[in-house]
Amino acid sequence: MNCAVILLLTSSCFTWSSGIYIPNGSAPKKLKYLLEPPVYAEVVARRGENATLPCILRTKPSLYKVKWTKLEPEHVGQENIIMITNAHGFKPYGHLGPRASLRKAHTMDASLQLSRLELDDGGKYRCELVNGIEDENVVITLRIEGVVFPYQSKDGRYRFTFPEAKEACAEQDGKLATYSQLYRAWTEGLDWCNAGWLHDGTVHYPIIYPRPACGGELLPGIRSYGPKDKNHDHFDAFCFTSQTSGSVYYIPGSFSFEQAGKACQRQGAELALVGHLYSAWRFQKYDQCDGGWLRDGSVRFPINSPREHCGGVPEAGVRSFGFPNKMMHLYGAYCYR
Ligand SMILES: *[C@@H]1O[C@H](CO)[C@@H](O)[C@H](O)[C@H]1NC(C)=O
Repeated sequence: MNCAVILLLTSSCFTWSSGIYIPNGSAPKKLKYLLEPPVYAEVVARRGENATLPCILRTKPSLYKVKWTKLEPEHVGQENIIMITNAHGFKPYGHLGPRASLRKAHTMDASLQLSRLELDDGGKYRCELVNGIEDENVVITLRIEGVVFPYQSKDGRYRFTFPEAKEACAEQDGKLATYSQLYRAWTEGLDWCNAGWLHDGTVHYPIIYPRPACGGELLPGIRSYGPKDKNHDHFDAFCFTSQTSGSVYYIPGSFSFEQAGKACQRQGAELALVGHLYSAWRFQKYDQCDGGWLRDGSVRFPINSPREHCGGVPEAGVRSFGFPNKMMHLYGAYCYR
């Protein structure tokens, strides 16, 4: 496949933060009621945490409402309202409503609080002051801090349709990654020579070290196959996960797959999912130079301090032995509790 297109570091597909919402290309207008987006137009938090999206009034019109919506470019024409508030109270809407509240730190505060963040809460949120004549708004980006991991079927390379890729990520405690999550992972060191589905049905792979087998001598970047046929084309998956509520630990031993599962169960735990191991690697700096079984039947180990005898690769990462024969008594167990 030589249809790879390169997207350079300067790609306009990627925005770190949003700034002022500009309706249909008109120039940003000076705000009268709302404070300009704060210096931090991007709020960053992990799954399970709470986040506050700031929206502060500068002046209060006599009659007004504040409306919070999540902007979802993939659902055009559909407004995803989270909350509408007036001087007397607020009303939550939609699937985010039950986890939303207003901060109300002072009388001019219309900041939105979201609790128990989930993997797909990331995106742009609009705080809109509605007073009938001079509606205005600011847009704040919420980024879920996490880790992207490539995932391949136990049957080999390029076996997932789009729905299967989505399912595979969910089974490993993740979601299909977005383009900006993959892009950020690339800037953080992800180099992967197998193309995978992303959240929007496009297929990409991130290359830091160009080599003939991975798109030739193109510059480093995200190689793109563009949108593919979701039901007929087959690729790997790029999954995204974040912090977990439980923790991962290793039991040394020479277990078969089944024995490894039992070893975890004896301690009130289960074999860890691939997403759990990546999360521990990223957020707990988990480093264990021993291959261990995971629940999907793969054998992996997490390395934060690369050294000669632990995979021999100079970069930190989660190493994989693939999906060995489940009867082999060679590996320990990674448990999750
Ligand atoms: C997060 O928000 C929930 C609900 O508002 C609250 O009960 C909880 O204490 C908050 N957690 C933290 C860490 O602030």
